[in-house]
Amino acid sequence: MINIELQKGDITKVKVDAIVNAANSSLMGGGGVDGAIHRAGGNTILEECIQIRNRKGGCKAGEAVITGAGNLPAKFVIHTVGPVWSGGQANEPEKLAGCYRNSLLLAVDNKLKTIAFPNVSTGIYGYPKKEAAQIAIHTIKNSIITEIDSVIFVCYDEENYRIYKELLNDI
Ligand code: APR
Repeated sequence: MINIELQKGDITKVKVDAIVNAANSSLMGGGGVDGAIHRAGGNTILEECIQIRNRKGGCKAGEAVITGAGNLPAKFVIHTVGPVWSGGQANEPEKLAGCYRNSLLLAVDNKLKTIAFPNVSTGIYGYPKKEAAQIAIHTIKNSIITEIDSVIFVCYDEENYRIYKELLNDI
């Protein structure tokens, strides 16, 4: 089973093989953690995102793409697009699970060993924090992937940190 760690803080400061960005389908940056990563990482990240967009037309909800990390301490940024919460009847849980699953698969494809996730979709996209945390933890805990050494959940806000702490203590 993949080793799971929990941290409170700013994901742009985390030194792992890849940090995951909660992006939008245009890959052109935004607010929240997306804005923080592009600001801290510098414009090479956006330049690579533009190349991906020109090639693939962007990134669908539940999918993920990978770029370099510019000035960040991490080596790569995996950009995933979470579902916008619209009441839970539009496949949001499956799409959110896909964000975590597809980010792990991209990390394996790139022979990465450590990956840090923010709490995807729980900010601007409005996903209920506890349900999102349950999906994130369940997807990682039940992954059959053996090539990843550790996953770090990085919580920026107190509420998410408390929820993850509680859920991870129950494992
Ligand atoms: N480090 C770690 N987590 C952070 C940071 C940071 N520096 N900044 C914000 N967060 C957390 C938020 O507290 C929230 O728990 O990231 C989580 C996801 O929130 P958002 O960044 O708002 O992402 P999301 O809800 O997935 O909405 C994505 O927002 O920024 C735009 O372009 C993005 O359109 C997309 C949408």
